[in-house]
Amino acid sequence: MPSVSEPRAHVAGLVPGGAAGRRYFVTTSIPYANGRPHIGHAYEMIAADAMARYKRLRGVPTLLLGGLDENSQNVAKEAAKEGLAPQAYVDRMADVFLATWRSLDVEFDEFVRTTQPRHHAATTELYQRIEAAGDIYRGAYEGWYCVSCERYYAADELVDGLCPSHRTKPDWIQEDNYFFRLSKYQQPLLDLYARAPDFIVPEARRNEVVSFVAQGLKDLSISRASVQWGIPVPNDPTQTIYVWFDAVINYITGVGFGPAGADGRFAAWWPAQAHVVGKDIIRFHAVYWPAMLMAGGVPLPEQIVTHGWVNFGGEKLSKSRGHVVYPREVIDLYGADALRYHLLREVPFDRDGDFTWESMARRYQADLGNDLGNLVLRTTSMVGRYLAGQAPPAGAGGALEDELRAAAATAWDDVERSVEGWRFHQALSAIWEFVTAVNRYIDRTEPWRLAKAPAPRARLQTVLATSLEAVRQIAMLIRPVMPPTSDAMHQHLGLVPPGPGEWEAARSWTGVPAGHRVPGGPALFPRVETKTPA
Ligand code: MSP
Repeated sequence: MPSVSEPRAHVAGLVPGGAAGRRYFVTTSIPYANGRPHIGHAYEMIAADAMARYKRLRGVPTLLLGGLDENSQNVAKEAAKEGLAPQAYVDRMADVFLATWRSLDVEFDEFVRTTQPRHHAATTELYQRIEAAGDIYRGAYEGWYCVSCERYYAADELVDGLCPSHRTKPDWIQEDNYFFRLSKYQQPLLDLYARAPDFIVPEARRNEVVSFVAQGLKDLSISRASVQWGIPVPNDPTQTIYVWFDAVINYITGVGFGPAGADGRFAAWWPAQAHVVGKDIIRFHAVYWPAMLMAGGVPLPEQIVTHGWVNFGGEKLSKSRGHVVYPREVIDLYGADALRYHLLREVPFDRDGDFTWESMARRYQADLGNDLGNLVLRTTSMVGRYLAGQAPPAGAGGALEDELRAAAATAWDDVERSVEGWRFHQALSAIWEFVTAVNRYIDRTEPWRLAKAPAPRARLQTVLATSLEAVRQIAMLIRPVMPPTSDAMHQHLGLVPPGPGEWEAARSWTGVPAGHRVPGGPALFPRVETKTPA
């Protein structure tokens, strides 16, 4: 079975050192492999990637885990439709997913495909541990199952007899299955939520989970007799493991959990600091998964970070209705950074948000083109025109410069606080407030007039040195969200783009060294004529 991706070189073999807590392991959910990813899936990957980039810039050894959920019945169905063996189908889909994440600059350090032998081994190991603990038993299952959701529904959860999410009639299943003794974990789970109030964020979602668990938990059917595509139940190959039971295990597969138990990587990276998941799959992560880990004697993750939905024009994205936007369509028009910016700016993490082509066009033109792009262009080209492309000495500033430095300090504080709390929309709006402040500073100081005035040139030098330094700071502040734009801005300033651990130093108002060559460059966000794809 081909493994499409290998760990990134800089993480392979990296064992986080330093004091406990000085490493960061963040996971994304693993989408089903039976359709290409849309901008809703992309949102989660972009947010997790931005967080991972931020942590690395702060010098924290970081591992970002992604993957693909390949053992679903929908995969087998899609493969059959296309006349392919399921494995051949998922191999092809894995290429599609990885290419999409690459095109969005989402850089996973590890990518788990649930058909990989290492994942079968990890799943088998955890299953057997849970079985050895006496928490798996055989019983008769009877109930409703929605294949599109890959989940069981109680009769009272259905709406007019239909799946509440897909509005389709679920299947009535009557089978002999293996069950996980979830009911036994009701109290331990409630204790966990009480002990770790931040286990599920945001709080509203935590409250939903607590009241769900408080109502009592039923044991969970974790195998299927009638499904062939999947991981066989250990010691009973007539059954396959329920796809959700194996899917969540990917998080430990990715850091080396397996028959050998805890190897060095596992000890170094597990437990995860954050599992990032959409609001529709909280129960699997905040209830079933911790119960499975408790049963298997594996430490629990620190936090389940849940996000809302990206809608499209106010309505749910829907592949079947053709109401969908794929990342490629946006990237082709506006570039990956613009999509990353738009999604994280427009969709507050804890709520739903909306994508429209109009808002994409507006943000591209206004925020990126006029505010940021123009700031970089005007600053570097004035240095080119008036100062022969050399960074000037800053000299003694006055009240306006003090004000701008204070605005910068506020921006850094806001960004750090917001990003740590997964509030990227607030971080970006803080950065853009600063961008606006710098543009205002330039408008007020009018360097083009200072350039015409007879000597001394000290004031012109101060103004352009201040503007250059502000641009440099913005280039760092946007780096987690817009990596290539940050690279380009540094290059326009003639600076080497910063690497891991350089966040702290970039905060201080050091200034671009006097005499340094500032080459400038082309417009970062050139005008785009088409508003929506043809
Ligand atoms: N395969 C499971 C996850 C298993 S994790 C062990 C699954 N796959 S999914 O493809 O349906 O969804 C993958 C992720 O994308 C989920 O976190 C889901 O919430 C998220 N999103 C799917 N559509 C979305 C939007 N429209 N907006 C934001 N996130 C969305 O569930």
